[in-house]
Amino acid sequence: MSDLIKELEREYVEKHPGSKKLYERALRCFASGVTHDARYVKPFPIYMVKADGTRKWDVDGNDYVDYVMGHGTLLFGYNDERLTAALKEASAYAHMGSCTELEIEWAEMVKKLVPCARDGLVRACACGGEAIEMATRLARIYTGKDRVVIHEGCYHGKWELINVGRSGPPYGLCNVRGIPKAVRDLVTILPYNNPDLLRKVFAKGDVACIILQGNAPYTKDYIKAIRELTTEYGVVFILDEVVSGFRYAAGGAQEYYGVTPDIAVLGKIVGGGAPIGAICGDPEIMKYHGFRDGDDYWNRFVRIRVGGTWNAQPLSISAGLEAMRIIDRERDKIYPRLYEICDRLTRYLEEAAETSGIDVSAAGVPPERPMVGIGPRFGSGASPLANYVYYLVLANSGVHPFGGSRFIPCFKYTKEDLERTGEAIHRSFEALRKGNLVPPKKS
Ligand SMILES: Cc1ncc(COP(=O)(O)O)c(C=O)c1O
Repeated sequence: MSDLIKELEREYVEKHPGSKKLYERALRCFASGVTHDARYVKPFPIYMVKADGTRKWDVDGNDYVDYVMGHGTLLFGYNDERLTAALKEASAYAHMGSCTELEIEWAEMVKKLVPCARDGLVRACACGGEAIEMATRLARIYTGKDRVVIHEGCYHGKWELINVGRSGPPYGLCNVRGIPKAVRDLVTILPYNNPDLLRKVFAKGDVACIILQGNAPYTKDYIKAIRELTTEYGVVFILDEVVSGFRYAAGGAQEYYGVTPDIAVLGKIVGGGAPIGAICGDPEIMKYHGFRDGDDYWNRFVRIRVGGTWNAQPLSISAGLEAMRIIDRERDKIYPRLYEICDRLTRYLEEAAETSGIDVSAAGVPPERPMVGIGPRFGSGASPLANYVYYLVLANSGVHPFGGSRFIPCFKYTKEDLERTGEAIHRSFEALRKGNLVPPKKS
């Protein structure tokens, strides 16, 4: 290991003695010491104790400009007083396991903001992955077909069927142990942005649905082609807006791209920072959750019979409703500022690459204006340790990225937050140059 890395690790260990100790304890509780893959970082994760606005504080008293934002749930930053008031109010009666007016108001706001829900129906559940599972089953009943099409590397949650395409290459073979072959055989994993291939797959006639990850690098033309081809072949178009929803725009990726899917899957922001998943869209597809009085055949053999302890529990519904109300009222302020922040972060990466002269570019999705997963893409020939150095410098400089390298922003950063971030990026690229971990930019 190079002296540079040793020095950065020494600084990290010195700054985070409390986290180091906690990680040693955590190793005796959790596999690899963590409860989420994205929190697994070397030499050990930083243990946080509180958060407010755009900042988090760790057990050693260090503060960070935060770019995890509750895995993207917190568009307004931490501790937004309007959302905490909504949570507090609902906590008095969470969870009655009953119908509430609140859930109707929440669904009405979803219908107002999300284009595919406007004339449709809505259903809430516990998390995004569960919502994907519900949407897929509805699509299968609606079409009478079983095959599901997804894209290489896309993440749609933990459910086995849609987890098949997560890792690769080779996609469909990495990290699929424990997923039966019978399940894997029903999934087709496609590369991005190839409508000809998609037509060939649809033409076989066995596809129930295609699931797109709203926050993935599709071209606008491809998304338009998907809308046309799904209509032509009677395939259900499911847009996973768990991340892109209320983030790309008030109406999510479907508003941003101007393409309306049949069903949207929601999560994260729609629960205002509390656990949630939801589906919304075409009532002809959503109707299979419904009862039919006096129709024994429908009720016993056609409809989906499921429960869900956490369906529409008041904490998430109350905070999510408040979040959507704010978005509805303040969208003209929120989105221009969010886009400005995202552009600034992208520019910091580009400027730092320019100054240090190393072969690295800014990446994120959507590619034309990164808003999620903003971070460096190192050119070929970069050391596998480049990302590690990037993380160490950022963390040592008081910036906390998601998964050790990416930014998921809220719209509240101050000038000081952004300046600290810009300086940390510059410092890290300089370290990468000095350590010869990324080759010089080719002229
Ligand atoms: C695009 C996307 N879809 C689905 C999910 C799953 O959501 P949840 O973790 O709420 O199950 C995630 C989680 O991060 C996600 O990023």
